[in-house]
Amino acid sequence: MNKKVLFVCLGNICRSPAAEGIFKSLVAKKNNSDSFFIDSAGTSGHHVGESPDERMTRACRQRGYHLSSFSRQFTRGDFNKFDHILVMDQSNARNIELLSNSSSDMNKVALITNFSSGQYSDYKEIPDPYYGGPEGFDLVIDLLENCLDNFYEKVKK
Ligand code: 4NP
Repeated sequence: MNKKVLFVCLGNICRSPAAEGIFKSLVAKKNNSDSFFIDSAGTSGHHVGESPDERMTRACRQRGYHLSSFSRQFTRGDFNKFDHILVMDQSNARNIELLSNSSSDMNKVALITNFSSGQYSDYKEIPDPYYGGPEGFDLVIDLLENCLDNFYEKVKK
């Protein structure tokens, strides 16, 4: 059975495209791509149609991840299309809650940092790197790699 996973941030040009690219790479390395459908979306429509931010694309490329998505806005219909909706921060969760059709919709939604461990377990959100320096983009990738390894182990079966 295909597991459908959606990553959500604000603009869908930095954090959630990175999560999509990293998770696609992870499941490919595990020879398990056929078990997953993986996508990302933003709660705002400001960057719809754009490729991921060049700074995030570059930081990901340096770690061997290729980002190929185009920004799209989260819609109500996504609650029906996906099994797991992983948000980057609390504000993303509040924004999609406003679009939820029923209380059960929100049962699919979790903060991605719920899956952090070890040195990253104190992070309760993935910090928005958009207005900061290059180190913010590297931190996002470090956090996502950690959280996604743990998420994969939880849902792989
Ligand atoms: P993202 O980052 O939510 O990780 O894609 C941002 C992208 C754009 C903006 C803010 C955050 N913005 O203000 O345009």
